[in-house]
Amino acid sequence: MSEGMSPAGDLFSKFDDIIALRQNLLASGVEDPYNLVMEKVLSPTRAICNGRDTILLGTYNYMGMTFDPDVIQAGKDALDNYGSGTTGSRVLNGTYQGHKECEQALREFYGMDHAMVFSTGYQANLGIISTIAGKGDYIVLDIDSHASIWDGCAMGNAEVVPFKHNDIEAMEKRLRRIPDGAGKLVVLEGVYSMLGDVAPLKDMVRIAKQHGAMVLVDEAHSMGFIGEHGRGVAEAQGVIDDVDFIIGTFSKSVGTVGGFCVSNHPKFEIMRLVCRPYVFTASLPPSVVATAATSIRKLMHGSNKRAHLWENSRSLHAGLRQLGFELGTDEPQSAIIAVIMPDLERGAMMWEALLREGLYVNLARPPATPANMTLLRCSLCAEHSEDDVHTILGMFERAGRAVGIIG
Ligand SMILES: Cc1ncc(COP(=O)(O)O)c(C=O)c1O
Repeated sequence: MSEGMSPAGDLFSKFDDIIALRQNLLASGVEDPYNLVMEKVLSPTRAICNGRDTILLGTYNYMGMTFDPDVIQAGKDALDNYGSGTTGSRVLNGTYQGHKECEQALREFYGMDHAMVFSTGYQANLGIISTIAGKGDYIVLDIDSHASIWDGCAMGNAEVVPFKHNDIEAMEKRLRRIPDGAGKLVVLEGVYSMLGDVAPLKDMVRIAKQHGAMVLVDEAHSMGFIGEHGRGVAEAQGVIDDVDFIIGTFSKSVGTVGGFCVSNHPKFEIMRLVCRPYVFTASLPPSVVATAATSIRKLMHGSNKRAHLWENSRSLHAGLRQLGFELGTDEPQSAIIAVIMPDLERGAMMWEALLREGLYVNLARPPATPANMTLLRCSLCAEHSEDDVHTILGMFERAGRAVGIIG
């Protein structure tokens, strides 16, 4: 057997291709883009990486809440008063006052009747989708949906019918073909995180409703930032009242960890007993729900920060475009700006060149990306200053010329 090949029957042989891809990339001498350590985190926008002061442009800390003094104090108080963890499920010993307060904050934030907190956003999608759409039901979803949505579909055994990304007609065609009387769930995202583009929810939600489907929208990348009250793209496009379930996460704008679903469905509370990824896992630690509740309440009054983040997004998008980079969207649509790289090798070289400049961005590659693209994903934070954006553009210019991505 030659070196690197798996023996017959080795269950790891299915990973040989990805192992080879990774070895080839590292053999080219670039730093491992998936093994970076944040040695010290100084603020929502600064960290020490490889001993160097680094601007963070690849976190999902859109509203910069991770170092908010009220948020930190709430976490410390909860640690002191409730201990480090619940050691139990929400349906047994794992519901503390803080979980209830967090759900109340979410109900108020969205103006909805019900809120259910999960241990992660991944589990919220997994749990809600697999529980409400089962055998004999149909799920119509965008082909570029997040892995947690796909996994929720797989776990629930419904018929899964994907349609071309953001294609309204393709979605309607799929809905038309579903047999009469079958249960239908349309699953959409507000912002698609790879390219940072938004969904045409206004039309999609209307059409889904005309076909008698329930609608779930994952607003992971829009909460806190998009919409008048930061409720997301469904709010911005005026259709939030027609959405049956909104899924979200605490790991982005809220600045901690956790996931949730909010809904006005009158029977929603039964989910707490039938949704396995809610029941069969430990609940979030008291310090986490305390930080989340405080952050969510502060996000209700975040309109100045939202306006500044839009400014940042517009100036970074315009600046990168002017430098000659190819971007994922023609206009800035969210806090994510994706820079398209010619291939993985040059993407990794550019990523490393930026890191040497003192800038961290996300390197995204297939299968996470659409159309086999390699992307440098920039996600802005409301705490980035105007000066930061100028500095970042200078770094992109130098790195882009050094690697030969721009002329
Ligand atoms: C669209 C979308 N949904 C859900 C999740 C999962 O969120 P969490 O990090 O809370 O598991 C993510 C995270 O990347 C996401 O991008």
